[in-house]
Amino acid sequence: MIIAQISDMHIQQDRRLLKGKFDAAGNLETCIQQLNALQPDLVLATGDLVNSGVAAEYAFLRELLAPLQAPLYLMPGNHDDRALMREFFPGHDYLFTDHTRLNHVIECGGLRIIMLDSHIPGKDEGAIGAAQLDWLESRLAGAPHIPAIIALHHPPFPTSPRYVGNFFCADGPELQQAVSRHPNVLRVISGHLHRNIQVNLAHAIGSVCPSTAVTFGLAIAPKTPFFYSSEPPGYHLHLWQPDKPIITHTVLLPPAMPAAADA
Ligand SMILES: [Fe+2]
Repeated sequence: MIIAQISDMHIQQDRRLLKGKFDAAGNLETCIQQLNALQPDLVLATGDLVNSGVAAEYAFLRELLAPLQAPLYLMPGNHDDRALMREFFPGHDYLFTDHTRLNHVIECGGLRIIMLDSHIPGKDEGAIGAAQLDWLESRLAGAPHIPAIIALHHPPFPTSPRYVGNFFCADGPELQQAVSRHPNVLRVISGHLHRNIQVNLAHAIGSVCPSTAVTFGLAIAPKTPFFYSSEPPGYHLHLWQPDKPIITHTVLLPPAMPAAADA
């Protein structure tokens, strides 16, 4: 089966360009055209669905997502609003599994995808929290032989000396300990950093999915100035077959600059 992971779409109403020059809506439309041709089994959107977390953005996002043919699962990022996600996507039953956080377990093709909500309203940094870590532990302990992917917006693992603080998930170490206790966890997938990154995580692999909207500039050294890169945005395709390794392909989208900006 094919799991498409899209992330950090940062949609704004009225087709506004992100930061005045990145065509987030156009990129998402291109991405959806590609996904409709690829026919993934499901699409998982790992947060920052919109840019400012307001109703008009979710209304436009819903319009943009309408042509997508595959089953879609939405997760919150630091730019999102849980109540508005529920309001604008009332048919997405999994958004109502939990009364507060948007946690859910997808069972598909002998694999479990554990959607873990790391959003703290009003803050850029993320946290899972003790209650959710308990929830995760019970889900993993309840199905120790079923391969699992954990998905959340904020990377719960170090990615570079530059990406600390706001770029991290505060209780990432606790999640890493949970992963190390459960050999059936194959991947921990995330977004937030708008780059394509992989790390070792106990026996598993941790990854950051690029943004479909805009790529953050490469920042490895501490205090590197933050900048938006002209590197192409993209998304991940995770290919899953029972008893085989998960294979991840990065798909790059056309350059994020709109045609008008190139003139
Ligand atoms: Fe983002």
